[in-house]
Amino acid sequence: MTGIKILGPGSLLPDWVEALESLEFGSSWGKLDEFEILYLIDKHAFARWRAIPKLGEAELLRVAVLQTNRRTGIASRLMSESLKRLAANGCSSFRLEVRTSNLPAQKLYESLGWRQMSVRKAYYSDGEDALVYLVN
Ligand SMILES: CC(C)(COP(=O)(O)OP(=O)(O)OC[C@H]1O[C@@H](n2cnc3c(N)ncnc32)[C@H](O)[C@@H]1OP(=O)(O)O)[C@@H](O)C(=O)NCCC(=O)NCCS
Repeated sequence: MTGIKILGPGSLLPDWVEALESLEFGSSWGKLDEFEILYLIDKHAFARWRAIPKLGEAELLRVAVLQTNRRTGIASRLMSESLKRLAANGCSSFRLEVRTSNLPAQKLYESLGWRQMSVRKAYYSDGEDALVYLVN
């Protein structure tokens, strides 16, 4: 497996990222906006973050691993590495929202030390609640 690559604000997404994002989340958000960073393990997994180093804040927007490559530690590695790199760029407060039904993702985050802090009622467009997780 290759190392971790980074795409910065304004970058177009590789085709396989768009396809994986659409498959897992219903659609792709397309090119990165001015605060977005994408960490990827080529053709295996991506983690899409919004980061504002001036404020010391970063939010995980989406993480996904190809179905055939799951439970091999790829998401853990990508999450840990991206956190390290965001911290090196000045971020010290990290947050994410996850669907209450998404137990695999909750297990992943908890295994990495993230803690559930609150619930956002009807956060998603289909009415599902979000759990808010933090780590520092
Ligand atoms: C959630 C997701 C990113 C996990 O990726 P992964 O590479 O399989 O995760 P890892 O192999 O690094 O797993 C690390 C730990 O997370 C937990 N975990 C991961 N998947 C799990 C599952 N399906 N069930 C229970 N625990 C799970 C386990 O504790 C696991 O450690 P273990 O395998 O030693 O038991 C992947 O399932 C995925 O892409 N899901 C679809 C997209 C999504 O829901 N993203 C999150 C919301 S943005």
